Amino acid sequence: MTGPERFQSILDEDGKIEPKDWMPDGYRKTLIRQIAQHAHSEVIGMQPEGNWIARAPSLHRKAILMAKVQDEAGHGLYLYSAAETLGVSRDELVDLLHRGKHKYSSIFNYPTLSWADIGAIGWLVDGAAITNQVMLTRCSYGPYSRAMVRICKEESFHQRQGYEILLTLVNGTAEQKAMAQDALDRWWWPALMMFGPHDADSTHSEQSTAWNIKRMSNDALRQQFVDMTVPQAQYLGLEIPDPDLSWNADTSHWDSGPIDWDEFWRVVKGDGPMNRERLEHKRKAWDDGAWVREAAEAYAAKHADQPRRVA
Ligand code: 3HC
Repeated sequence: MTGPERFQSILDEDGKIEPKDWMPDGYRKTLIRQIAQHAHSEVIGMQPEGNWIARAPSLHRKAILMAKVQDEAGHGLYLYSAAETLGVSRDELVDLLHRGKHKYSSIFNYPTLSWADIGAIGWLVDGAAITNQVMLTRCSYGPYSRAMVRICKEESFHQRQGYEILLTLVNGTAEQKAMAQDALDRWWWPALMMFGPHDADSTHSEQSTAWNIKRMSNDALRQQFVDMTVPQAQYLGLEIPDPDLSWNADTSHWDSGPIDWDEFWRVVKGDGPMNRERLEHKRKAWDDGAWVREAAEAYAAKHADQPRRVA
């Protein structure tokens, strides 16, 4: 059996492609693109929430938020490791991000204006991420799908703590409930944009679906997220900022109003509220951390001949 024949037979049997398996260049290329941008999103995604660690309303909330932000860092490193199995270095990927040649999720270009935003991010952003990432646990590329299994376990804690923040606020004072509503108003539509353009406008969906990278379409995942989230908003007593939102008894789905794709592409192309700050902060953190990388490399070089101690 030739490489291409074996590749196709593994896909046909819903199997996993492993790093040493033959794979089409395009498969490798699109996985490096998607996994790297996923990793970039995790790392940049630390900034909006990190902005509130020093301002959390209690030690309890501070501890939870610190743990969540630390998890996101770990997700990023996990995903860079998965990308490296495709023959690309982490430094190359980070350089592509710093030079604006790689994307990260547009959602992270919005500011976190109040503590309620931290609840909305956990509930909506991590909720959307989980919806997408559970699907990716069935991705055909082994290292990526296994990374997703590990990451999804932590994401469910992220989503629940966010929802719990909003539940606390809506049961608080009128001002606190208003703060929660304001956060939902600002984060709802950018969260729907996390699933990407409509299927008809998606660049990669057809090929990614043929390669079992995507197992559900952008619109199908978005619909799954909306159907899951609307009842949660109703339980909170919050109004979803979509006047066209309505229950469709024929399809048993919530029908949403139109997404502002001009806003989506404006933010993706760099003209969002926080794009410049996010990348400047990321570049500075990378530069400020150079000494740590150099020290770790020097230590590894010095001890290269010694057996690795396993704890
Ligand atoms: N933000 C920025 N760019 C986006 C985007 C978004 N929300 N949605 C789509 N795009 C980009 C795509 O990257 C692609 O550009 P490229 O060719 O330069 O990469 C272009 O728009 C066309 O979109 P497609 O639908 O054709 O692209 P994909 O097939 O790659 O689908 C995706 C987009 C659904 C985001 C897919 O890439 C994916 O599933 N990625 C993995 C999940 C991910 O990256 N999630 C980001 C959030 S991670 C997160 O929230 C972590 C949590 O812990 C906080």
